[in-house]
Amino acid sequence: MGSMLVDINAVQKVYRRYAPAYDFYFGVMFQPGREEIIARMDCRPGERILEVGVGTGLSLSLYPPHVEITGIDLSREMLARARARRRRHQLNQVVALRLMNAEQMQFADNSFDKVVAMYVVSVTPHPSRMTAEMRRVCKPGGQLFIVNHFQNPNSLVRGVERLVSPLSRLMGFRPDYSLDHFINETGLDVAERVPVNAWGYWTLLRCRNNKFATVDALPRQALA
Ligand SMILES: C[S@@+](CC[C@H](N)C(=O)[O-])C[C@H]1O[C@@H](n2cnc3c(N)ncnc32)[C@H](O)[C@@H]1O
Repeated sequence: MGSMLVDINAVQKVYRRYAPAYDFYFGVMFQPGREEIIARMDCRPGERILEVGVGTGLSLSLYPPHVEITGIDLSREMLARARARRRRHQLNQVVALRLMNAEQMQFADNSFDKVVAMYVVSVTPHPSRMTAEMRRVCKPGGQLFIVNHFQNPNSLVRGVERLVSPLSRLMGFRPDYSLDHFINETGLDVAERVPVNAWGYWTLLRCRNNKFATVDALPRQALA
């Protein structure tokens, strides 16, 4: 399954380091996936949308103006950039950008029509816990959207991914996280699975929020 980023402090530490150069390295390269996922979200007027792990807000200007976007992230430094972007581009559909752990959200059940996570599943320490939270805060009958890199089916590429996986903590993501494992563990009801970005190396999932997963509660960890 790959090495784990053991706790949120490790994630915060890595993304504090990434924040100043994040857009330079991961802006253009990941943008086709962001565009594709927002197109497939088919945003309707007045919908409430939650983006978890919003990072520096590279997706924010892609949403139409008639929706309400809430973004959360656990890195202050990444979030500061998202806030600056919202101000700079006057993105009034972005109603809130909050420091919050997606594995323990402070939103009530059924708060959002659609919930999206772009390139976060293999970063967060407990992907199944985050997914369970995404389902909880999403209305029944709503939809969940995920874009992420999962372990490659090609054995040669998979070998390289396995080789570099001990560096997960340093890199800030797990390069060899298995899609089958993720779907089995979360019980996600996948309606669509689409390869995106260069060589289709990343996968977009559109899921129906029609059942609830039960994940044991972890002790709460305060955000530093
Ligand atoms: C690879 S970046 C992706 C950022 C953005 N979604 C994008 O498309 O560029 C991963 C982001 O997820 C955030 N993150 C990871 N685990 C998280 C969690 N449990 N709760 C909130 N944010 C999290 C990190 O701080 C980082 O900003």
